[in-house]
Amino acid sequence: MDLILFGPPGAGKGTQAKVLVEKFGIPQISTGDRMRTERASGSELGKRFDDFMSQGLLVPDTLVLELIGKVLDEPSAKRGAIFDGYPRTILQAEALDGLLSEKHRKINAVVSLEVPLDIIVERAAGRRMCEGCGQVFHLIYNPPPSGAGTDAGSCPIGHCKLVQRVDDQEAVVRKRFLEYTEKTAPVLAFYEKRGLVKPVDGLGSVDEVTQRILKALEI
Ligand code: AP5
Repeated sequence: MDLILFGPPGAGKGTQAKVLVEKFGIPQISTGDRMRTERASGSELGKRFDDFMSQGLLVPDTLVLELIGKVLDEPSAKRGAIFDGYPRTILQAEALDGLLSEKHRKINAVVSLEVPLDIIVERAAGRRMCEGCGQVFHLIYNPPPSGAGTDAGSCPIGHCKLVQRVDDQEAVVRKRFLEYTEKTAPVLAFYEKRGLVKPVDGLGSVDEVTQRILKALEI
């Protein structure tokens, strides 16, 4: 199965993708996570991503397409994938169609998480990420283990070191939302024409949203 998790920044795509990975046994492909890893490595490519990401702007399609081609060729993505934060432009959606059709695959469904801007700002402001394992927490809705920086399960550095994403500051979140409205939201029409879009209310607990997604997918 190839599934797209669509929605504005902070809608809960990454959180839900991790739950669905467990349920479906296919990997999450998050272009944002891949870009942050590249950035953390200090590579030239990572620096080029950073120029756009830190300002809340979309990374240009040419750079994104280079990345996604490589990711789709990874053995773990052989049987399908959950795309989180990709595609974000019509050009990216067309490119994904092309890459999947080379593998005799196609997008099966697009889950569109609907969350209003005030909640998005609140979710982004409270989000904290572990530098070591990438686990995502929310200070109120999904708090890290008591006293941040203490033991947090399977983190390879032994304890989660929590950081705030540079693009989670309110002004940058608002810029990202604007980019979403102008450049990414039109991608929905591309999939609506094929009857693939499943709108899902993204408000409520993580579990409530998961149940709505599974219902929308009729699973
Ligand atoms: P990316 O990393 O993809 O960010 P995003 O799409 O803006 O989404 P987020 O990661 O902010 O949020 P999310 O929807 O995954 O929410 P999460 O589950 O974390 O992209 C970052 C940047 O990279 C872009 O701005 C761009 O520059 C670049 N980029 C990436 N892909 C690109 C592409 N394809 N093309 C061009 N540029 C690209 O949840 C958010 C918070 O809310 C968390 O704290 C979580 O714990 C909490 N939460 C989740 N669900 C709930 C719930 N139900 N109730 C309460 N809290 C909840």
